Amino acid sequence: MKRVLVTGGNSGIGYATAGLFKQRGYDVTICGRSSQRVAEAAGNLGVEGIVADISNPDHIEILAACFSGGGLDVLVNNAAIARFMPITAHTLADYNEFLNVNIRGPLLLIQKLVPALAKKRGVIVNVSSVITNNGLPNASLYAATKGAVDGFTRSLSLELAPQGIRVNCVSPGAVDTPLIGKLGLKPEQINEIKAHQETVIPLGRYAISEEIAQVILSQAESTYVTGSIWTVDGGVGAT
Ligand SMILES: NC(=O)c1ccc[n+]([C@@H]2O[C@H](COP(=O)([O-])OP(=O)(O)OC[C@H]3O[C@@H](n4cnc5c(N)ncnc54)[C@H](OP(=O)(O)O)[C@@H]3O)[C@@H](O)[C@H]2O)c1
Repeated sequence: MKRVLVTGGNSGIGYATAGLFKQRGYDVTICGRSSQRVAEAAGNLGVEGIVADISNPDHIEILAACFSGGGLDVLVNNAAIARFMPITAHTLADYNEFLNVNIRGPLLLIQKLVPALAKKRGVIVNVSSVITNNGLPNASLYAATKGAVDGFTRSLSLELAPQGIRVNCVSPGAVDTPLIGKLGLKPEQINEIKAHQETVIPLGRYAISEEIAQVILSQAESTYVTGSIWTVDGGVGAT
């Protein structure tokens, strides 16, 4: 049975992705920071749950060790944090947190999982954001980390191709997930942003997590695709 690890699989896009891979017969492992959220999600989906903070290198070692024997077919680097704030408000702690979770976490996890992925000629799907294409005020730190994800996807696809490992990226636009509640915005600001975005998205609505999960699965199973970044934005990029 093929094995997949979905980071941040207890919420939003990661949860839907874990559920879809499970439906397709994969042996699924999810991880997240909160033991309660991980246990609840793993129980609901009938998958394995591991409590791991990807900003903690020790946790990454433990996570990667789970696949050292049997190997790993698919790594979905989905976990990330997002908070919107003006650049003048960034503290050093903000920089460290964003860089460690959104960039160092996925990179270290890939580094530690290369042997397991090589064993299965596996695939890595990173999750970026269209924020790298279309700027957004007060989102520079988050956008910088997602730009890094696009960048390391391309370089690693070349570096790991000789080992048979493909590396791709899915870049979603606006998706209706719990993330919007974590941005540090007031409810009226959230409503305002949502109402505005729905007027500029050609499909006229946010994506649901399952629609991003479909693309993550397709990218994982498309055996000639590597070094690709697939935008899933309801048509915004075409405007
Ligand atoms: N929603 C959107 O509109 C949108 C648009 C473009 C891109 N994205 C990207 O899509 C991905 C998923 O976002 P989402 O909207 O599904 O957000 P979400 O519902 O907030 O889920 C984020 C997940 O990441 C986990 N996580 C956060 N920090 C972690 C850490 N240090 N270690 C391990 N797990 C961690 C969270 O679990 P715990 O809190 O339990 O750790 C949670 O499961 C992210 O990469 C995000 O940047 C989202």
